[in-house]
Amino acid sequence: MNRDEALALIKEKVPNENLVRHMIATEVIMGALAERMGEDRETWAMAGLLHDLDVDETAEVMGEHGLRTVEWLRERGFADEVVLQAIRAHNPENGSTCTCTIDQAIVAADRLSGLVTAAALIRPEKKLELVKLKSLRKRFKEPAFARGASREDIASCEQFGLPLEEFLTLGLEAMQGVADELGL
Ligand SMILES: [Fe+2]
Repeated sequence: MNRDEALALIKEKVPNENLVRHMIATEVIMGALAERMGEDRETWAMAGLLHDLDVDETAEVMGEHGLRTVEWLRERGFADEVVLQAIRAHNPENGSTCTCTIDQAIVAADRLSGLVTAAALIRPEKKLELVKLKSLRKRFKEPAFARGASREDIASCEQFGLPLEEFLTLGLEAMQGVADELGL
């Protein structure tokens, strides 16, 4: 499956444009992370792009979130086990555990994309290019801001060897690079 095919499938399954944007944001953070960690960019980006494919269908059954995506992808002949495992692992509620770096990375990238988006949306201009690292760092330290973006999960980047400061920078820059696509 190439990126265009993945996007077509996302359009079919995820009607909510904001969620599509969240998936693209996670994709670019994962791509940048892979490059930084010396991992395969395409694989990591694909895992980020597809990770919430079933989010609409599993809203009521969080224990299924991730598992259904894996099912759908397999039905379409998708067989990249690394990507499938990472998609499963990004939701601990389905019983999966993180087994390798990409699994930890997708959890951290998922939450960071939420924090960066919230940091842009709180500004009157709602523009990513105006978000500075300093303000992102400040937002990170405010527990009441964007509560859903688990700080613990974001900081887990340190477990795979990336200092938090560097992760915040990398995530912000990656998302700024596709600001148009993210509508921010
Ligand atoms: Fe997500």
